[in-house]
Amino acid sequence: MKSTLLAPNQVCLITGAAGFIGHALARRLLDEGCTVVGVDNLNDYYDVKLKQARLTQLTSYERFVFIKGDISDKAAVDGLFAEYKPKVVVNLAAQAGVRYSLENPGAYIQSNIVGFFNILEACRYHPVDHLIYASSSSVYGANKKVPFEESDFVDHPVSLYASTKKSNELMAHTYSHLYQIPATGLRFFTVYGPMGRPDMAYFGFTDRYFAGKPISIFNNGDFENDLYRDFTYIDDIVEGIVRLIGTPPETIVPHRVFNIGNNRPEKLMTFIEALEKALGHALGKEVRFEKKFEPIKPGDVPATYASTDLLQEAVGFKPQTPIDEGLQKFADWYVDYYNKS
Ligand SMILES: NC(=O)c1ccc[n+]([C@@H]2O[C@H](COP(=O)([O-])OP(=O)(O)OC[C@H]3O[C@@H](n4cnc5c(N)ncnc54)[C@H](O)[C@@H]3O)[C@@H](O)[C@H]2O)c1
Repeated sequence: MKSTLLAPNQVCLITGAAGFIGHALARRLLDEGCTVVGVDNLNDYYDVKLKQARLTQLTSYERFVFIKGDISDKAAVDGLFAEYKPKVVVNLAAQAGVRYSLENPGAYIQSNIVGFFNILEACRYHPVDHLIYASSSSVYGANKKVPFEESDFVDHPVSLYASTKKSNELMAHTYSHLYQIPATGLRFFTVYGPMGRPDMAYFGFTDRYFAGKPISIFNNGDFENDLYRDFTYIDDIVEGIVRLIGTPPETIVPHRVFNIGNNRPEKLMTFIEALEKALGHALGKEVRFEKKFEPIKPGDVPATYASTDLLQEAVGFKPQTPIDEGLQKFADWYVDYYNKS
């Protein structure tokens, strides 16, 4: 790896390290020889055993340190920065999920707003070379113009989750402006893959198939005007982050935002058929989900579609794993991990 920001003697702090993206990024950085400090509160929003299994993979590396802690605890975050002096910080800890933000809005304020504020304050008093943080494609709300570009108007979020992510971008901009913190926000577009998040649709569909239950598809059963999603394979997300870590912004206010998406939206029904095929292949038999069609859920958006021009310009890379390839890796992992063969 060429970037001096990723040398073994430099500490990279990853929050949310037991999470789907955090764990995959930590593994990649450890494989590259970096030193990684991972923080996670291991909350039970979804199966804690899966978070522990991800951690087990990380603790086998000598250069990995795990701290069980909560980023909404200011003293704990300060202590962490004082002790480990990270030069690169990747903030992935957050309360994720659009639908759950209608059920438990407080969790989003606590982790995404208070927690992120603590990270920014820590970067203010313990200067870093690069802060990377997770935003989300959900900031685009119900925007009609596609593909979504980073310069598009994003002041009409349709869920509290999206509001917290847009707030993170504003907060990071202010801190970069005031204290010259080099910061990069990443708008991830529906990330999927092995060891993924059980609360996401593709994972839930697979669970329900093995439980012998029908799946609910929230697209009004309207295949002509089906929902479109830009599904992004986990390795592409990790590759994008790793490349960006080594290229902090050098603008007067050193803050910028990138989309990381597949730049190729798929109809929800196409994605579901590809998942049936991948599971069929993993199991060696035909797989058909029993499907129930329901109205679109409040807070959900009809389409997501990332422009990746800015990312490509900055680091010469854009995600390109096709869904059948990515879903096959997910299906093979699922069948093996849950002993379904
Ligand atoms: N996966 C996606 O499709 C997607 C899309 C857009 C944005 N994002 C964002 O990317 C980031 C990572 O997402 P993910 O899919 O890996 O989610 P995840 O839920 O698997 O990972 C987040 C991790 O953070 C931890 N965490 C939550 N609150 C915390 C707190 N207050 N203190 C310490 N740890 C805490 C959780 O225990 C979890 O392990 C999140 O910020 C999410 O909002 C993800």
